[in-house]
Amino acid sequence: MRSVIDITDLSKEELYGLIDTANDIIENPGKYAHACAGKKLATLFFEPSTRTRMSFEAAMYELGGSVISMTDGASSSASKGESVSDTAKIVSCYADIIAMRHPKEGAALVAAKAATVPVINAGDGGHCHPTQTLADLLTISREKGRLDDLTIGLCGDLKFGRTVHSLINAMSRYENVRLVLISPEELRLPDYVYNDVIVKNGMKCVQTSDLSWALPQLDVLYMTRVQRERFFNEEDYLRLKDSYILTPEKMGHAKPDMIVMHPLPRVNEISVKVDDDPRACYFKQALYGKYMREALILSLLSANPEK
Ligand code: NCD
Repeated sequence: MRSVIDITDLSKEELYGLIDTANDIIENPGKYAHACAGKKLATLFFEPSTRTRMSFEAAMYELGGSVISMTDGASSSASKGESVSDTAKIVSCYADIIAMRHPKEGAALVAAKAATVPVINAGDGGHCHPTQTLADLLTISREKGRLDDLTIGLCGDLKFGRTVHSLINAMSRYENVRLVLISPEELRLPDYVYNDVIVKNGMKCVQTSDLSWALPQLDVLYMTRVQRERFFNEEDYLRLKDSYILTPEKMGHAKPDMIVMHPLPRVNEISVKVDDDPRACYFKQALYGKYMREALILSLLSANPEK
């Protein structure tokens, strides 16, 4: 029984394996249509979600499995004071695999220790979000044709943005990846990511607050939302929320083959006018997330497609 709490729980070889499986699912969905027949996925979401929860659920249905779901902590026994550990033990009695999102950093790890089935971290507070990274890796690999030799700009809320933390962890394993960290001073990457991942792995990296300066250098621009729910006071959020807005005019300074990614939801940081630019990949990215979640569920349940 194995859980995925952090993207580093998966080896580089396993990541390539999941990407291969996801590509095969895209090509041959019929082969996988019954692979998880008789299995149940439980989605436990103590925080709002559209893409992550629904793509997990769609993924399980497309594998022939079924889903039981808790979409809101307030309607569960958590509101009566039940611990994450107890909830995880109980849900293990009803499901073969659990995907869990929680506002507290470390909650998924606590659940995994108590559960008797695999637990997938679907986001724990401002900490990490490994399955978003799986979506991101498939997007970069399909749209750029490689995961090495890339200059990646990460822009927006690098402090609280868990998708960024997990993506940096993943990219530290590939060759010749250069990071351009674009954020206001107050929303810079936390030290535990900067020192323990970027510095420790000797990654090439620059920090700036200037998106226009960074843009022409980038192969990938990863925009993020300012994470309102993690701020201690609303005034800071209001001051910082519109720090970066990507517009068609700014896209004019980017490479013709740069791709724009965003884990979504976007609030204001990408103008809707950018959506028609062929370099805008964020909607495809959300679709790719479903295939990578299928690949991950298959792997954790040791389920096999038809030959
Ligand atoms: C992200 C998240 O929940 O961290 N959304 C997602 O899962 N696609 C990004 C965000 O909420 O800004």
